[in-house]
Amino acid sequence: MIRHQLPAYSPVSAKAVLLAAGQLSGLGEDPRPALRALLQREYGASSVVLCGSGTQALMFAIQEARLRVDAKAPVALPAFSCFDVASAAIGANALVSLYDLDPDTLSPDLGSLERALRAGAGVVVVAPLYGIPVDWHALTTLTKRYEAVLVEDAAQGHGASWKGKRLGALGDTAILSFGRGKGWTGGRGGAILRSDSAGLPSSGFLEAEFSRRVAVSIGVAALWALARPEIYGLPVSIPALRLGETTYWPPRPVRAMTRVAATTLLATHEASRKEANIRQSNATALIAAIGDSPQVRPIPAQGCRAAGYLRLPVRAPKGMASFLNAQRALHVGITPSYPMSLAALPQLAGRLVAPEGEWPGAQTLVRELVTVPTHSRLRARDLIEIIGILRTVESI
Ligand SMILES: Cc1ncc(COP(=O)(O)O)c(C=O)c1O
Repeated sequence: MIRHQLPAYSPVSAKAVLLAAGQLSGLGEDPRPALRALLQREYGASSVVLCGSGTQALMFAIQEARLRVDAKAPVALPAFSCFDVASAAIGANALVSLYDLDPDTLSPDLGSLERALRAGAGVVVVAPLYGIPVDWHALTTLTKRYEAVLVEDAAQGHGASWKGKRLGALGDTAILSFGRGKGWTGGRGGAILRSDSAGLPSSGFLEAEFSRRVAVSIGVAALWALARPEIYGLPVSIPALRLGETTYWPPRPVRAMTRVAATTLLATHEASRKEANIRQSNATALIAAIGDSPQVRPIPAQGCRAAGYLRLPVRAPKGMASFLNAQRALHVGITPSYPMSLAALPQLAGRLVAPEGEWPGAQTLVRELVTVPTHSRLRARDLIEIIGILRTVESI
């Protein structure tokens, strides 16, 4: 079937596609200073460096943070996260200490993080999943006690805030991703933000090659053309595109953000803000509709946290296998979360400080976590079907 719901959606207009193509030559006004100024304003950052991807941004941030503490200090990473987090630590050539997550909130398990700090972690990467903010105050208090540097990986934080401050503005060092599923996209891209007076070393990153600019521009056009439920079944059926799969991508050297990505980001900024509001209201409606189910547990933002809900994370007893018709669930955009913990990622073998460690929270999430779409391309009919699918788990 060609109709297939998108798991996530970042708005891209025809105008953005044309503007992006117009930047291929590398001539004309450079849009990157305007993007840098926008990010500086919105995130209250003292300095902003634009680069080729969120992974590159995180790799750079880890390298820079290690220089401030101890260039050999291990980096603490969440045991359950996007594989790119591991790729960035590998690119920074760091030893890795894992810490567990609380499966009820997706927040760091503070006891487990403290063990990683006691074992010598000098840099801690915290990556709020699906835009669910974590208690930043508790994290800074703990990491300060161990004189470790906290890096806020806000790659999934678009539209989210904690105590009125947007994710990406909380850490002294933070990173953003502008990849295709991140709510605000430039096709590809990332940023490193510093909010303290120390600033960032001026980037001096190499410009991306022409072939890379072309690839980003094609990616932007493909997002505009194909990210539509009416035809998304076509790209999904092409195995080489690996859509919907969690893949490990080895780290690449840090490059400057392309002008193509920067111009796309400026052109989609306003639409991405509106999209975040729609995600929040759809997520609220979904939570209200399934909140009383004893089997399926949505993970809501609590207290002073406003989630960005890039997708709505939901725990079901057997993950995707909990649904009577898992194929249909995939078809309406419900997708599994990460298929393994970072402890099991082969690329991290040999780098783990405590390879024999146990991560019960991460294991629970590998078994149970699925994600539900929240974007504006869902129709009322889709939402009703999704709610029906989530509620049928009760009868298993
Ligand atoms: C938590 C997290 N960090 C970093 C990244 C890397 O971002 P990019 O895809 O732009 O390299 C991602 C991407 O999915 C992510 O989810």
